Amino acid sequence: MQQLIETTASLLATAKSVVVFTGAGVSKESGIPTFRDAQEGLWANYDPQTLATPEGFAANPPLVWQWYEWRRQKVRDVKPNAGHIAIVELSTKVPELRVITQNIDGLHARAGSKDVLELHGSIARHYCFDEQHPADDVPDGLDEPPLCWCGSMLRPAVVWFGESLPGKVLGDAFRLSKECDLMFVVGTAGVVYPAASLPYIAKDAGAKVVEINPEPTPITDIADVFLPGYSGHVLPQIVTTFEKITGSHP
Ligand code: APR
Repeated sequence: MQQLIETTASLLATAKSVVVFTGAGVSKESGIPTFRDAQEGLWANYDPQTLATPEGFAANPPLVWQWYEWRRQKVRDVKPNAGHIAIVELSTKVPELRVITQNIDGLHARAGSKDVLELHGSIARHYCFDEQHPADDVPDGLDEPPLCWCGSMLRPAVVWFGESLPGKVLGDAFRLSKECDLMFVVGTAGVVYPAASLPYIAKDAGAKVVEINPEPTPITDIADVFLPGYSGHVLPQIVTTFEKITGSHP
């Protein structure tokens, strides 16, 4: 493993443009449940069609609102972990580093990552159902969706099943993936598209791909380095090894 970490640190030492592409696994050590893990207790009785589609929201707005309110509460109660923090540290040591995440929990930004591309939106933001007007300062603890100034109900700014990803964010993610020379793929099963296409785009454009995951995924086949392990453990080791080989202690 140490050899693989040294190889990764050497790739970082020559990289000019780095992308860190993350999924639910990077938040696991903070205690954030994935969509399915979160469906415990009362919520286990509902299927994703009911809780996470526009049709589900239209059929029962208070139910869907309360589900996301409950998940927002869970996110508020946790902190970024050593993996999120190591990514911020790496960003201070290479010329350019951008985070592209599938997570809606906002933990990369809370750790200090700048300009995070949130492919699947954010549980912390809202917009209105009918007109997509953005809404600020939505109070916590409401039992049903408040109304926008236009009269439409507010909804969480997350991408539901069957919805398109935000066009500008996806376009920026494609461009960064094409332009980077090193992509880290961290804690994603690599099966939900179009997000899962990003490592293939990077690889086809000539970037090196480093994957961190305790389990192999479909992306492992194209990874130049596969680091089997937990991101909160492996990423800080990469930072330390990088500092050693480049002499770049803060
Ligand atoms: N460190 C790194 N990877 C981990 C860790 C960890 N501590 N713990 C688990 N993993 C890995 C798992 O092995 C798995 O491959 O993280 C991956 C999580 O997979 P998913 O739960 O399927 O999450 P993700 O790939 O982000 O899902 C993509 O699907 O549910 C929808 O829209 C939702 O954004 C989500 C998308």
